[in-house]
Amino acid sequence: MDTNATALELLFEFLSFPSVSTDPSRAPQVAECASWLAGQLDSIGLSAEVHPTPGHPVVLARNPHREGRPTVLIYGHYDVQPEGLICQWHTPPFEPQIRDGVIYARGSADNKGQIFAHVQGVARTLASGAELPVNLIFLIEGEEEIGSPHLDSFLEKHRESLRCDVIAVSDTGMVAPGVPTLTYGLRGVAAMEIRVKGPNVDLHSGIYGGAVRNPATVLAQLLASLHAADGSVSVVGFYEGVLPLQDWERAAWARIPFGDKQIEEVTGVAALGGEAGFTTLERIWGRPTAEVNGIAGGFQGEGTKTIIPKDAFAKLTFRLVPGQNAEAVLAAVERHLREVCPKGVTLEVELGHSGEPYLCDPHSAHGQAAQRALAKVLPGHEVALIREGGSIPIVNTFQRILGAETLLLGLALPNCRAHGPDENFTVANFEAGIALNQALLQELAAG
Ligand code: BES
Ligand code: ZN
Repeated sequence: MDTNATALELLFEFLSFPSVSTDPSRAPQVAECASWLAGQLDSIGLSAEVHPTPGHPVVLARNPHREGRPTVLIYGHYDVQPEGLICQWHTPPFEPQIRDGVIYARGSADNKGQIFAHVQGVARTLASGAELPVNLIFLIEGEEEIGSPHLDSFLEKHRESLRCDVIAVSDTGMVAPGVPTLTYGLRGVAAMEIRVKGPNVDLHSGIYGGAVRNPATVLAQLLASLHAADGSVSVVGFYEGVLPLQDWERAAWARIPFGDKQIEEVTGVAALGGEAGFTTLERIWGRPTAEVNGIAGGFQGEGTKTIIPKDAFAKLTFRLVPGQNAEAVLAAVERHLREVCPKGVTLEVELGHSGEPYLCDPHSAHGQAAQRALAKVLPGHEVALIREGGSIPIVNTFQRILGAETLLLGLALPNCRAHGPDENFTVANFEAGIALNQALLQELAAG
């Protein structure tokens, strides 16, 4: 009981750092959070180091490694998304609170609560006087939410000391409370900003409307041209290489206690929509998409202002599935937009960060060990084998640079509000995460 209280108190300290990686003005708080975390890892008996990078620091920690044991790398991130509008939160984002067994704070689910459960699992094993059953490496970064721009080169540089047999990540979700969930695939992501430029200055829409193309209208036309009426993406080459779902996946997903009804409930929309010919789970886990994340241009103030705005812009991201390649998708989209764009406006395209998708076999030896650990900690349900629609780009890079597969054992619930107001993580899942760390390391050591 005491240990739990301490674990929760420490988690609350961790959650109190506004370690928002996207906001340069918060770099000092991100750095403080990294030092605090390294202090925790040291205090439980590991040897921890804070490694500066050109961006935010990477925290590494390890136990004494011995021959003959598998090496397990546990990856997570201590950075968080911006809190957004404070008025949309019931309690302040960086002042964690428990209400009805649920912890509310930015980062509680994504990813501080989940990675800290691993830290506490290790702490508990070591505090019992036992040795860890594996050679362990913690790698906890501070730039996941901005696309891990410095982690690839960090992995290259430390390739030898980070050599491992398998990687464990708890930065994904579970399909329903109490349902053990193993994620074996992630979508990739590729970002782009587009700007449509028209006249030198905003023009009177009475004097010039009808003669000069309206950049906001052109932008809307460009964005609308990305999709066909059946919900598919109309960019030539977009689906090139997309691997079809396998029969066992469709069958497994059909048994999962999660689908349209839960998604409608959590999101508050009256009906779901997407690419025709696929179920909702297939569309979010196994199909690529094009999304407009933001759109702006022209007069936004109160009342009417009769202008043709000088420009308009939009932020886009594309979710990618195995078989696709981020660079090729961005190139295909740019080609498409330039073709559709009419004369009289200029289209500027700026490519953003990108990360490749990931797919592994949940039935591999490591996958089976993960399933045994999940079944032990969350008994009574079949382990749900899923892919996730979200992205953790470094997981693909782990495969490429470290040659190791990643087990994704997340415990965030569908209503965890990751990236949104009132982000939350249940105390029960924090505790399950602690037990899962202990069970997982045992199962991986057993082989
Ligand atoms: N934890 C998420 C990834 C995730 C989300 C996995 C949902 C499974 C389900 C991660 O922290 C994240 O938000 N990633 C970004 C990546 C981007 C910033 C490069 C994402 O998916 O938008
Ligand atoms: Zn996130």
